[in-house]
Amino acid sequence: MVKAVTNNRERWQSKWGFILASAGSAVGLGNFWRFSYLAGMNGGAAFILVYLVSVLVIGIPLMIAEFLVGKLTGLSIVSAFRKISGNRKLWVALGLIGVIASFVTLGYYAVIGGWVVSYLGQALSGNLPADSVASTAAFGLLSTTPALQVVWYTLFSLIVAGIVSQGVRAGIEKYNRILMLMFLVLLTGMAIYALTLPGAREALGFMFKFDLNKITPLVMLLAVGHTFFSLSLGTGIMIAYGSYLPKKITLPFASVVISIIDAMVALLAGIVIFSIVFSFGLLPDSGTGIAFVTLPPLFAAMPGGVYLAAIFFFMLAAAAITSAVSILEVVATYLMDEWKISRRISTWGSAIFIYLFGLIWTANDITLVDKIAGGYLLVLGALAVSLLIGWTVPINSLAKTLQTKTNHPMLKGFYLLNRYLIPVILICLLVSGTL
Ligand code: PHE
Repeated sequence: MVKAVTNNRERWQSKWGFILASAGSAVGLGNFWRFSYLAGMNGGAAFILVYLVSVLVIGIPLMIAEFLVGKLTGLSIVSAFRKISGNRKLWVALGLIGVIASFVTLGYYAVIGGWVVSYLGQALSGNLPADSVASTAAFGLLSTTPALQVVWYTLFSLIVAGIVSQGVRAGIEKYNRILMLMFLVLLTGMAIYALTLPGAREALGFMFKFDLNKITPLVMLLAVGHTFFSLSLGTGIMIAYGSYLPKKITLPFASVVISIIDAMVALLAGIVIFSIVFSFGLLPDSGTGIAFVTLPPLFAAMPGGVYLAAIFFFMLAAAAITSAVSILEVVATYLMDEWKISRRISTWGSAIFIYLFGLIWTANDITLVDKIAGGYLLVLGALAVSLLIGWTVPINSLAKTLQTKTNHPMLKGFYLLNRYLIPVILICLLVSGTL
């Protein structure tokens, strides 16, 4: 049986601080940039339906599993895998996948974060491109001019490392609380406004009128794959956040709330983006550039568009920062737990290495790395967690940490999901080559 933790690790100040920080990690560029282009290109409602089912069946149990690993051990991914497995090399190596995935993901995520900050700057100074030709050219210039990208990438990276270096309460929890609350209020307001636009009906139809024929195997795989990215699973983020939990917390409740916030944000962001796009008679299938190329000139043509654009890109920046913070935390806590290095040095040390490595993506296309790190590595990391929970942790340890009885039907279901169903689905995803 795995012994519960008693180390003097920093703890979250409050339950809601923890929930907001985890929701801050989940809610990110994925909800705007990735979700809207994937849904836009894959049948809208069909993609969304499969995505929601996948959050329920795979996302929530896996999130509980990650929190459990963190809470049970009081350690971050590698050290936790080491402790649970009794120092078995294979498991330690599997834990390292999460750290590597985080290292690589943050590099390109921060490049996109830099784009967002750059667009926020343009929106605030009223300089967003006014028509689609100018918008395509402006985005083309930004994404192909390394010197320009480096400036924004550096700024974004500094903000993220600055927050993480201040620790769990004074850094991560505090800034997530501020940024996430502002974010949720602004997004709700913007979605209500978007519903008054002429394209709102069409947007809702596109998002919620299900056509079962559009649910192809490819759509299913893409939607399941996106679940990991969107809920920040598979890199050890939720393990790290779970390791700062006090004893008394109901993990299933927290995981359901976090997943609902994340899915709601994706839907509200979809309503905002698709309503605007349809209002101008455009189609939402323009691919990855939808937020950066399609939207800016549309904002310019809307009444009060300058303010809407500023709010939109501020929201995106807040979402990107709180997610990037959580990704950096994985690498920083790895150094703290495994190598006993102080938080300050761990944070700035890992941030510098990630920054230098990530510079590659200011001069190269990120499609491939997003596929490998944001797709395959996350699924591999998630597979490792579900196997760890399903095959190496005794069910009575799980029952104790979840404060329930060993024969509770929900616990049994959770255990069996992690033991059989989730690994099978993940292996299908990995071998299908669609990630
Ligand atoms: N979940 C976050 C998003 O949707 C970011 C993230 C992706 C975090 C992958 C960790 C791993 O943008």
